[in-house]
Amino acid sequence: MSLAHLIPSLEPRIVELYDKHRERATKIDWAYHEFLPLDDLRNDPNRIPKLSNIVYASVETALLTEVNLPWFTTHLYAAFKGSLEVMVDFVHTWTSEEDSHALLLETYLLLGDNGDHGRRARLRREVIRQGWASTIESHFQAIAYTAIQELATQIFYLRTAEIADNEDPMLAKALRRLARDETLHMAFYRDCVNLHLHAEPNYIYPLADVMMKFEMPGSGMPDYRERAELLATEGNYGPYEYYTQVIDKLWKYWEIDKLAPDLTIAREKHKELIKYHQRLGRIAARFKRNNDAEMQAAGD
Ligand SMILES: [Fe+2]
Ligand SMILES: [Fe+2]
Repeated sequence: MSLAHLIPSLEPRIVELYDKHRERATKIDWAYHEFLPLDDLRNDPNRIPKLSNIVYASVETALLTEVNLPWFTTHLYAAFKGSLEVMVDFVHTWTSEEDSHALLLETYLLLGDNGDHGRRARLRREVIRQGWASTIESHFQAIAYTAIQELATQIFYLRTAEIADNEDPMLAKALRRLARDETLHMAFYRDCVNLHLHAEPNYIYPLADVMMKFEMPGSGMPDYRERAELLATEGNYGPYEYYTQVIDKLWKYWEIDKLAPDLTIAREKHKELIKYHQRLGRIAARFKRNNDAEMQAAGD
């Protein structure tokens, strides 16, 4: 049995998920200019406020992740080569949807004259030139990685929208719109993984590796560690959100605790993954405690 490939008999169910995705995406069809205040800007060129450093850093980090779309498409397309036809179809649809994300964020920053446009252009070029060091090794790992990545991105947008609310509700609305796209992407991949885990619990073996090695697709961008630390301590997204809203959500959805793989290597991996999950929970709780205490001390 190969745990690398997708299960051919599941194809009709995956095609159903894909059709559902297209139906839902059509219902919430949108264009990026609808989320930019063009009419207001004609009357008031200062309509878009100057963003605080933390909101700017969050939007720029999202942008620098989204601009790497050419390489995400390249790797996912290659990853699904020889897999079910529906996966390649999904990558096409997905690419056309993702294409609007960087466009909206970049145009917003430019119209509001936020940040240093020259520096941002250089960073964009650097990110795209660098490409993406994908760790995906199989068809199954591709759906597992993408499910986690889309959910993490969705939560990141929602959390950024929360801190943007006080500064520019229009930006917050745009970020929530992007989060809806990510939700639909996540749902497709998450449900594909679910079908596999419940048809064949030994898929926990490749899933565990993906979960334990997970890194955001933007993790190769310049100053990523500093950015991640800033967003975790001053923004709204860090180890606590990653555990509670990403990993633990998928954990429960996939019912990982209840899976009963029969291969010895898969049973061992399952145990290892359960320990990892508990450790991540402890790290998240500790991070939250320390950060709350520091915030309180800073406020006193
Ligand atoms: Fe996106
Ligand atoms: Fe997405």
